[in-house]
Amino acid sequence: MKYISILSILLILAFANSCAKVEVIQDEPIELSQLDFNYDLEELDLDFDEAKVQLGRVLFYDDLLSLNGKVSCGSCHRQEYAFGDNQAFSEGFEGKATFKNTPTLVNVHLNSTFMWDSRITTIVSASLTPAFDSNEMGLKSGDLVNRVNHAPHYGDLIAAAFPEHTDVQEDGTVIGTLKINHVGEALAEFIKTLTAVESKFDIAGKASSAVSMSKDEEAGLELFRTHCNSCHTALGDAVFAGDRPPVYYGGNTNAGFGTVNIGLDLLPGQLQQVNSRIPTLRNIGSSAPYMHDGRFETLREVIDHYDDGVKGERIDARLLDDKGAIKKLNLSDTEKDQLERFLLTLTDATIETAEKWSDPFIK
Ligand code: HEC
Ligand code: HEC
Repeated sequence: MKYISILSILLILAFANSCAKVEVIQDEPIELSQLDFNYDLEELDLDFDEAKVQLGRVLFYDDLLSLNGKVSCGSCHRQEYAFGDNQAFSEGFEGKATFKNTPTLVNVHLNSTFMWDSRITTIVSASLTPAFDSNEMGLKSGDLVNRVNHAPHYGDLIAAAFPEHTDVQEDGTVIGTLKINHVGEALAEFIKTLTAVESKFDIAGKASSAVSMSKDEEAGLELFRTHCNSCHTALGDAVFAGDRPPVYYGGNTNAGFGTVNIGLDLLPGQLQQVNSRIPTLRNIGSSAPYMHDGRFETLREVIDHYDDGVKGERIDARLLDDKGAIKKLNLSDTEKDQLERFLLTLTDATIETAEKWSDPFIK
């Protein structure tokens, strides 16, 4: 049996009620002119409903959301690994492996499609699907709602987040009358707070920042711009995305999704048809192993793959030279190091350590 540190959550709620929204520090506009990349915090939807965030946080870490009470969302999406997992495939409620690598949830809400094959189009639906997955959590929709509505530790949380969906019993206990979408909404609200905007890259880009990128990191950024930007960013070279807010590559679905092959074998069997979407590189240093099948243990292996390891048919044009042959990047060891150093500047460590994103259950 576990107990939530409900008191601290109620305190947070009391505080949140007094100011209604989470405050986002935006003391000065971010200017990345020296790096030639711009993004605008205003474009990010960073106004959260704090009561829903708190309900979502408890749901996220609650074993009650799996059929046999063995796993929670947080068992696979682990804070210390940027809300990914440190193994190629994670273990579901019955110990069965997931079909694909658990992706990071950092900045995931900025995506326009979800899952490695882009099959889901809303963050609410993406947040609920795992609970009903026969490998992951194994619940039925009705069971999930029933469990949440009746568990004693949810009464006050539901009353704060969805006051119109609570019922006070004769003995004074509060039960919820939530529908499945409300559960999804709360989970999604928590996941939306996982927005990384305080990495070294972000901080160095702020006007009058005391932090600056090292020479190697800047050289890595140049290499990134030359070899990687075309996929792991938004359209054009001024907006940086995939690896940073506000726009993901998914903004232009025609250009990448469903057609991209970067020369990796896809999984056997039915999943052979399934293509991999372009993932975010936010907090990438913390979410090894890499790719949809977790085949690479280190960033260096990923870089080596792009350097001269791409093989296969129907390769994305961005990986071909002007004669249509698969490009070799011919990076030197120093350049590979620089590229890796740049990728490491995309880590916002607060995501991995801050208490507000941690497990509120006392084990
Ligand atoms: C057993 C491990 C496991 C559990 C438990 C789990 N997930 Fe996941 N999650 C995954 C895997 C694996 C994927 C990728 C699946 C795919 O692409 O088909 C994923 C994908 C996602 C995505 C989409 C990410 C993206 O980049 O598009 C979201 C959002 C998500 N999970 C949220 C949750 C929530 C919320 C819960 C709890 C209700 C949860 N997950 C429970 C393993 C897990
Ligand atoms: C043609 C488009 C394209 C280009 C160019 C490209 N990538 Fe990728 N990248 C992808 C796709 C698609 C995936 C997902 C592959 C998979 O899951 O099998 C990926 C995955 C990755 C991952 C693993 C992400 C994770 O969460 O596991 C890293 C790291 C990465 N790329 C870095 C780079 C670097 C560095 C470069 C430049 C040298 C680069 N990419 C160039 C499309 C591209």
